[in-house]
Amino acid sequence: MSDISRDCLTEERVVLITGAARRIGARTAEIFHQQGYRVLIHCHHSLSDAETLAHTLNTARSNSAFVLQADLNCAEAIHALAASVLSQHPRLDVLVNNASSFYATPLASVSEQQWLDLMGSNAHAPLFLCQALAPRLRDSQGSIVNLTDMNINRGMAGFSAYTMAKAALQAMTRSLARELAPQVRVNAVSPGAILWPEHASDPIIHAKEQAAILAGIPMARLGTPDDIAQTVFFLAHHAHYVTGQTWRVDGGRGLS
Ligand SMILES: NC(=O)c1ccc[n+]([C@@H]2O[C@H](COP(=O)([O-])OP(=O)(O)OC[C@H]3O[C@@H](n4cnc5c(N)ncnc54)[C@H](OP(=O)(O)O)[C@@H]3O)[C@@H](O)[C@H]2O)c1
Repeated sequence: MSDISRDCLTEERVVLITGAARRIGARTAEIFHQQGYRVLIHCHHSLSDAETLAHTLNTARSNSAFVLQADLNCAEAIHALAASVLSQHPRLDVLVNNASSFYATPLASVSEQQWLDLMGSNAHAPLFLCQALAPRLRDSQGSIVNLTDMNINRGMAGFSAYTMAKAALQAMTRSLARELAPQVRVNAVSPGAILWPEHASDPIIHAKEQAAILAGIPMARLGTPDDIAQTVFFLAHHAHYVTGQTWRVDGGRGLS
């Protein structure tokens, strides 16, 4: 452990959450913040949402939230993001790989560009963020939580590239759990239907499909961002003897 890290272990814990400006990532940032963490809110396009969230959190507790902007499809931007975390925050306890692109790629029309985009945010970026940040996470005996998707087990017609990317992330979870143990735990949360994708003019999941999905959920409701965020927090902060696991948070949908 480096001297700088040892000196900082008494300070507040620090979490980096990718794609945290809105929706599930933002709720995850709020939960970690409520529990006393300093939160590093990564965003790409949603800079003003990220800044609003950081302002709210900093109003509640000064100097406790920071915004970092990066396109996770760009290798240089991933390195710059990690470098800025390492230089500005000598302590890092948790990395949450939450950012994700999600859209249909029917087999007949899926393109190389779509493949690279979906693999980029969902698999490539998490791997190289883990690589860059693992030494700092080791210093704090920290942990990594990856957001996957329960559909990788069921399959999802029209979404092969996305589900392949999330399956890669799940495989990475197990392999890095072995490789980074015993200092760093690596787990995944696999959400079911939580928030519908936001494409108001051209919904990815149409009303009829939404009703069919709801009918297949034993808990008879969509999940909430809070359901996911609380599980991420539990795995990162409390589950000291859990590593390499993927926890499905899907209201029982995967049972059928
Ligand atoms: N919502 C659900 O019901 C559901 C279901 C299953 C799994 N999940 C998983 O749970 C996680 C959170 O879900 P969500 O619906 O809240 O996510 P989301 O809104 O679809 O995406 C989260 C963020 O990812 C960021 N992102 C996408 N591509 C990026 C790129 N190239 N570079 C940097 N950031 C990028 C975007 O940031 P900017 O807005 O700043 O550009 C976006 O706000 C995701 O991993 C998702 O796959 C969600």
